[in-house]
Amino acid sequence: MSDTASPLRLPPAIVVVGSLNMDLVLRVPHAPAAGETLLGRSIASLPGGKGANQAVGCARQGARVHMVGCVGADAHGQALRRALELDGIDTAALQTADTAPTGTALVMVEDDGQNRIVVVPGANDFVRIDAAALARHLDGAAFLVAQFETPLDQVALAIGVAHRAGCKVLLNPSPVQAIDDALWSQIDTLVINEVEAGALSGRPADDLPQVAAAARALRARGVARVVVTLGARGAVAVDAAGARHHPAPVVDAVDTTAAGDTFLGALAAALGEGRALDDAVRLGIRAAAICITRPGAQPSIPMRDAVLRSPLPPAWTLLP
Ligand code: RIB
Repeated sequence: MSDTASPLRLPPAIVVVGSLNMDLVLRVPHAPAAGETLLGRSIASLPGGKGANQAVGCARQGARVHMVGCVGADAHGQALRRALELDGIDTAALQTADTAPTGTALVMVEDDGQNRIVVVPGANDFVRIDAAALARHLDGAAFLVAQFETPLDQVALAIGVAHRAGCKVLLNPSPVQAIDDALWSQIDTLVINEVEAGALSGRPADDLPQVAAAARALRARGVARVVVTLGARGAVAVDAAGARHHPAPVVDAVDTTAAGDTFLGALAAALGEGRALDDAVRLGIRAAAICITRPGAQPSIPMRDAVLRSPLPPAWTLLP
């Protein structure tokens, strides 16, 4: 399958269980040191949250998306719900907590585009999975997508429902936490960055052979395929066929926020269309390369036509 061809099938349906945050984005010359007072360049409130970003990432690549999450009964919650609906995402299962504010993330973006993020979960901690309703939404879906910004017991519950329904699970265990032994074999695709891969595998994951070894160690726990994102170095994909390094194109980074979420959304949509893992990874890399040239989380996620018009990344190579 090529990088540019049209979808193989009908748009895939994807159910995302995850977080929604209002991102308070501060542009700063550099991250302040302890005790330092710094003049920032700008401040903006922009829609974010790993779950919502990934939902938008899937939707802008053509998938039909259903979002399960929880916001507060406040203006931020209304704005985040509206933002998803503008992307055509079904929010019927988006819950509202009466006792907690909408999740908030303080995102500090330095001049080189790197970010530092602190999340206060708020209403995200109150999401509750309705197993019967989720099973109905998963009927005919290509993937359940989840992350770890909502309570782990609810994520595990959702993964169990998907597994029993025969729906594949794509998990992004971020912020990284240990994964219960029983869950590993219920995950089809694990998408993780190199720092998280090192932490979860207990192995160094600095150079490419180390990343491949860490990914293989994670795959040996029962996952069908593992994709490790490496920022400017691209990604490593490991499945039954072995390990491949996919380089990324060189771009000028403005803001790296949501690059991983954008990658994941494009990957999930492409896999859901029936594309091969390497084709899906290349589309994810192209989408993320565009994302980091734009500010903000959800505002930076590209539409499908922009991804298909973007330059092809260099060819992938086999890793030992
Ligand atoms: O992955 C980026 C996201 O992490 C931000 O949008 C922020 O809300 C945090 O969840």
